[in-house]
Amino acid sequence: TWTMVNIVEEQIELIREQVGDARVISALSGGVDSAVSTALVQRAVGDQLTAVFVDHGLLREGEAAQVREDYVAATGVDLKVVDAREQFLGHLAGVVDPEEKRKIIGREFIRTFEAAEREVLATPGTPVRFLVQGTLYPDVVESGGGSGASNIKSHHNVGGLPEDLEFSLIEPLRALFKDEVREVGRQLGIPEAIVGRHPFPGPGLAIRIIGAVDAERLAILRAADAIVRQETTAAGLDAEIWQFPVVLLADVRSVGVQGDGRTYGHPVVLRPVSSEDAMTADWSRLPYEVLERISTRITNEVREVNRVVLDVTSKPPGTIEWE
Ligand code: XMP
Repeated sequence: TWTMVNIVEEQIELIREQVGDARVISALSGGVDSAVSTALVQRAVGDQLTAVFVDHGLLREGEAAQVREDYVAATGVDLKVVDAREQFLGHLAGVVDPEEKRKIIGREFIRTFEAAEREVLATPGTPVRFLVQGTLYPDVVESGGGSGASNIKSHHNVGGLPEDLEFSLIEPLRALFKDEVREVGRQLGIPEAIVGRHPFPGPGLAIRIIGAVDAERLAILRAADAIVRQETTAAGLDAEIWQFPVVLLADVRSVGVQGDGRTYGHPVVLRPVSSEDAMTADWSRLPYEVLERISTRITNEVREVNRVVLDVTSKPPGTIEWE
């Protein structure tokens, strides 16, 4: 729309003024906000921007490839991909406690991003002075406002960057709500598969596996989750569902009959919710036909899963995620 064109043009001008001929670094998470803010900065300053994508191996099926390939093709962003999948799995091995998982993932993410950042900083030329953040208006309000370009040295500088190094933030989405961010993203030509993505937690699939995380469990959950997304998209339900976690109860087994015999497999939980802001949520009343297709397909196509259950708990008392 006309307003979105204005917002894009205006932000591009502002970013150019702010950055001058300095260089900029950005972290892509696979989510909408970092994808759109990074693309805006790319439009404004081109190759003065280096985007870093830490592939922690905890995204859903196809999502990392969409960032590495489709997003780069659509935006022309100079992308540095760090394949950290083995590293994250190694650190997560045997860890069951959800908060412990979060701590490990947060720590490894910062370490990995900062190592990539040091490499970018070490390249000759103008220094890097800006960091892109996909902060939205609701985040600004939640954290009590604050002025434009803040300094994030204290929390960012955890892993050994030079003491006197300071980044200023570029936050081109600070005035926008999620829907507007999606519009801006479409305006910038970002693929719908990325722009239309539901909110997804930073720790990714690791907090949707109840039990320890390993490659095999991730593969099981990824396969079940992909079926759920195909069927909800095919049924035209994406817009009315806020989020649809699929949870693998990896430490639970139940008896089933599949094919010729008895199985002793894992249940998956379907957790579709409707919500305005994730603070409260209601379980989605999905059509039975859609639930039936999902259930049939998962138990037919994902060998290790022999039971599909539906979570009918609101938030509160249940959280959206299981961990
Ligand atoms: P809960 O489960 O607390 O989730 O109802 C509320 C919203 O936050 C997301 N979520 C997270 N996002 N890191 C994130 O970036 C996290 O550790 C995390 N935990 C939950 C969740 O997907 C929902 O949108």
